[in-house]
Amino acid sequence: MAETKKLMRALAGETMDVPPAWMMRQAGRYLPEYKATRAEAGDFLSLCYTPDLAAEVTLQPIRRFAFDAAILFADILLVPDALGADLWFVTGEGPRLSTITDQAAFDALKPGDAIHDHLAPVYETVRILARELPSDVALIGFAGAPWTVATYMIAGRGTPDQGPAHDLKAQNRPLFDALMQRITEATIEYLSAQIDAGAETVKLFDSWAGSLKGQDFHDYALTPARTIIAALKARHPGVPVIAFPREAGDNYIGFAKATGADCVALDNSVSAEWAAEKVQVDGCVQGNLAPGHMVTGGQALVDEVKRIRAAFSKGPHIFNLGHGITPDADPDNVALMLESLRAPA
Ligand code: CP3
Repeated sequence: MAETKKLMRALAGETMDVPPAWMMRQAGRYLPEYKATRAEAGDFLSLCYTPDLAAEVTLQPIRRFAFDAAILFADILLVPDALGADLWFVTGEGPRLSTITDQAAFDALKPGDAIHDHLAPVYETVRILARELPSDVALIGFAGAPWTVATYMIAGRGTPDQGPAHDLKAQNRPLFDALMQRITEATIEYLSAQIDAGAETVKLFDSWAGSLKGQDFHDYALTPARTIIAALKARHPGVPVIAFPREAGDNYIGFAKATGADCVALDNSVSAEWAAEKVQVDGCVQGNLAPGHMVTGGQALVDEVKRIRAAFSKGPHIFNLGHGITPDADPDNVALMLESLRAPA
């Protein structure tokens, strides 16, 4: 059967007049219905691990806005949780984890293939979504890339400059490499199980790739992505992969070819015109409207949507923000974004 879902067509390399669209963090605190379901779940992690509620919040933005894709509701930090690191969320502050900075803490982690019992509720969420999504909406699974996940496991929290992870890399390279290896194995297992459950494509979020420079970018962003993508392609031929080495800058160039990714997601620190010439020449790109426009709206939003659409019009493109939508965004601006995108050029 010919593929009819627009997102899957773009990932297969098709150029469309109106590109498919979805939004990072499209299920989130800017939506009153999300906040209501989150309150029902009690806390964020319970929401992630309760399949009916996680599926419900995944579907909320689809009902409200008719996006072309749904992204599984979960979090990149469920993998450390499944590996045996303690994980909790402090309201208004963000995630906290037990830290992995010495051999004893590393030795207490589970093997990469021992995560499935813990993550079974996530796979159940994927199965519910595969059944319930409208037939023209694609289902995206995801995981954090090893470097980004490692930065949280080493620091025990989000950090502005990923300092603790850089320090461990400098001071105990064998331990750092072993941790990267363990996360890589778990990520392959996790994404593979999401695909088995019904995810049609998967996205690898390397939110902190921008702090890896020179050889480090090659060793800890590019190489793990290539390893994970090669393993997934061997197990699931034909399932496309989206890679997001956020703030990679010039390192976006050639990233798809070097890693085997079917699409490179772009943050909004690179211009669409630059990326069309340097990155989209190799295939599909995703992005890259600045999330701030979802707060400010107005004619500037409309103009930016049209500029980005025009810049990427000569090749395969998935419209998205350059990073996640923020809690202070106005849902009306999301509707305006989609209206401007889908209006005749
Ligand atoms: O995009 C989606 O709608 C799917 C769900 C999703 C979440 N997190 C839900 C979430 C996805 C894809 C993620 C990825 C994620 N999580 C990343 C990579 C992408 C990025 O944003 O750079 C990272 C670094 C995390 C780790 C994480 N989770 C942090 C740092 C925080 C706290 C910051 C914040 O916004 O509060 C979270 C919590 C989180 N994950 C929320 C949501 C909707 C907010 C939690 C809440 O409801 O209180």
